[in-house]
Amino acid sequence: MMVTSTKKSTLYCKFGWCGRPAWVWHSLLAMMLTVWSTALAQAETLQALNWWSSTSEHKAVDALVVKLAMENILWQEVLIPSGSGAGALIVLKSRVIAGEAPEVAQLNGTIIGDWADMGLLLNLDTVAQSGKWDKVLLPAIYSWIRPRDHVVVAPLGIHRVNTLIFNPKMLTRYKLVPPQSWEEFELVATALQKAGIPALAQSSEAWQVATLFESLVLAESGPEFYRDIFVNKDPRAFADRRFNHALWRLRALKKWMAQPVREQSWTEVTHLFADGGAAMMVTGDWAKGELNAWGLTTDIEFGCSTVPGTGDYHLYDIDTLAMFATHKGHRPAQLKLAQLVLSPDVQNDYNRIKGSIPVLRNPDLSRMDSCARTSWELFSRGARVQVPSFAHRMATDETSRDTIIAELHRFFTDEHVSVSDAQRRLVQIAKILRKATKS
Ligand code: GAL
Repeated sequence: MMVTSTKKSTLYCKFGWCGRPAWVWHSLLAMMLTVWSTALAQAETLQALNWWSSTSEHKAVDALVVKLAMENILWQEVLIPSGSGAGALIVLKSRVIAGEAPEVAQLNGTIIGDWADMGLLLNLDTVAQSGKWDKVLLPAIYSWIRPRDHVVVAPLGIHRVNTLIFNPKMLTRYKLVPPQSWEEFELVATALQKAGIPALAQSSEAWQVATLFESLVLAESGPEFYRDIFVNKDPRAFADRRFNHALWRLRALKKWMAQPVREQSWTEVTHLFADGGAAMMVTGDWAKGELNAWGLTTDIEFGCSTVPGTGDYHLYDIDTLAMFATHKGHRPAQLKLAQLVLSPDVQNDYNRIKGSIPVLRNPDLSRMDSCARTSWELFSRGARVQVPSFAHRMATDETSRDTIIAELHRFFTDEHVSVSDAQRRLVQIAKILRKATKS
């Protein structure tokens, strides 16, 4: 203690503050407090509703919040923890209806266009023009954020949903490699089972079941069939034998999962995997960000591959921030935030931590791990390989998504529902949804 205080007084003396009377110190403190509180009073505060509650998600948001603070803008967190945003969206909707929309919200999916049509979202055209977003953004992203030819959201990053994360040590111990096809998967899972290791970590939470199932549909026969199911909701596609087969695969995979398949959050499932409770997991690459945040290194403690049969495709989920057209006084801060989201530093730092990839045409590839690089290189190839995630709101409207997911969830959790029952019900649902969309 003595040593510290001596050091301090030596330092103060150096700057000529040595031996000043107490009132000098008090006035100095008062002055500092005044400056600080004036700065705080002048700082603009933006309420930001989001569902990012995990370790990596917090850290990733911090990369943006720090930059925002440098502009004297405070990010006031309105956190509604809920995997894939189910709960957050309900809260957001009720706040919008009550006329209490936050200034900022994490918003994914087709709802962006609907809310822009209703005039709820701030037009970001000027920020986009001055930042040359048409040139710096990947073309698919630039078109996604302009649902009716006006920019209405600021894109943060792109997740790859058809990701397969594996434990390399476990696989190598039994001379196995990550499976590329479902035939290979069966062989790998059988060998692991003999060693008493479950092949897959999986939750029975509805959105996580849907996240797995959409990859199975994609694996069945590629993007065209996937679109017929999840974008066009074509009853004939739902009645197709390929859809039957995807349902069968979903049921069959249960036997390779760590038992019991409980309704766990995605971070709990990731923990199960990290603790060696299963050799692989099918997940969006946000789980990669989380493993990194827990100190596990990509390509060492875990590896990153793709769901069997989907390696040529990028099943994407785009995270964006929407600015609500609330009080006019918030506009400058909201526009500043939109501008910062696209700055190279935020894009590189945020996405590296989050597990996603930058939305830019020229990101810093050297700062990406192999998983992110593969994801970015594939996505940047364009429309031919890009497939919109149904579970993460990229493919269809909320009602269709929720209804189909509820049925899939029932099928997954209740063994009494047969594959043909589930298929029959989903064909009916598709017919009703189709009618509703047309009327
Ligand atoms: C997705 C979202 C990701 C991540 C994930 C898990 O819908 O786009 O950023 O939050 O859910 O909750």
